[in-house]
Amino acid sequence: MVALDCERDRALELARMLAGRARWVKVGMTLYYAEGPAIVRALKELGFDVFVDLKFHDIPHQVEGAARAAAAAGADLLTAHGLGSAAMLAAARAGAGQAAGPGGRARVIAVTILTSMDVDALASIGVDAPVEQEVERLARLAFGAGMDGIVCSPFEAARMRELMGPDALIVCPGVRPAGAARGDQCRVATPAEALSRGASHIVIGRPITEAPDPLAAFDEIATSLEGVTGSAPGPAIAADDTSQLR
Ligand code: C5P
Repeated sequence: MVALDCERDRALELARMLAGRARWVKVGMTLYYAEGPAIVRALKELGFDVFVDLKFHDIPHQVEGAARAAAAAGADLLTAHGLGSAAMLAAARAGAGQAAGPGGRARVIAVTILTSMDVDALASIGVDAPVEQEVERLARLAFGAGMDGIVCSPFEAARMRELMGPDALIVCPGVRPAGAARGDQCRVATPAEALSRGASHIVIGRPITEAPDPLAAFDEIATSLEGVTGSAPGPAIAADDTSQLR
C-alpha cells in the first residue's frame, strides 16, 4: 500500500506512475483534508483499491457518520483508533455498513499504537506498559468490536496473527527497505520481515514517494518480496455477512 502523503497533483502523478503495478494506495489526512472525497474517486478511477486512513477518534455518533461518508466516497478500507473504545469502533463498522454497495462494505481496521511511538512516548501520555502489551490489549478490544483487523508495527505482527487468526487484516506501517531513512518512525522493519511475521498488507510512503525514481523504488520492494510467504488478503465482505468478523 503506497501512502500518498503529499498534495493532489503529486499524488495523482505518483498514482499514474504506479497504476497497474501497485494494487492499493493510501490516502491519509494530508491529502484527504485538502481534497476530500474527490481524491478517493479519482484514485478509484485509476483502478486502485483505496485505503482511507483518517484514524477516526471521536464520539460514536460522529465516527459512524464519518465512516459512512468515507465509505460512500469509495473507500475500500478505513481506520479508527482503538483508543476510542469498543463502542466507537462498532459505530465505525456500522457506518461503513450503511454505505455498502453491491461489492460489499468497506472494511474497518483499528489503529493500535502508532509506529512513531515508543515506550517513552507511551509513558509520556500516561500509559505505563510495554508497547506490545498495549497493542495486544487494543487488538483484543478491536476484535471484540467486530473489526476486520488492525494496524500494528511489524514487531507485533506475529503475535497479532496468532491472536486474530488467518483471515484478519494485519496492516503494518513502519516499514523501511534496508538502508532507507527512518524519518519519524520508531519501530521499523524491512518489507520481507513484516510480511513473513504475519502482515497481510504493508504500508510504505516516503521510501517510495520521495525516491528519485518512485517506480524503481516500488519495483525493488516488490522484488524483495518475491518468494516471501505472507497471509493472502481475503475477498471483500458482503454487506450482511458477519461470519468472517470473529
Ligand atoms: O512515509 P512512511 O512510510 O513513514 O508512511 C507511513 C504511513 O503509515 C503514513 O501515512 C502514516 O500515517 C501511516 N501510519 C503509521 N503508523 C500507524 C498507522 C498509520 O505510520 N500506526
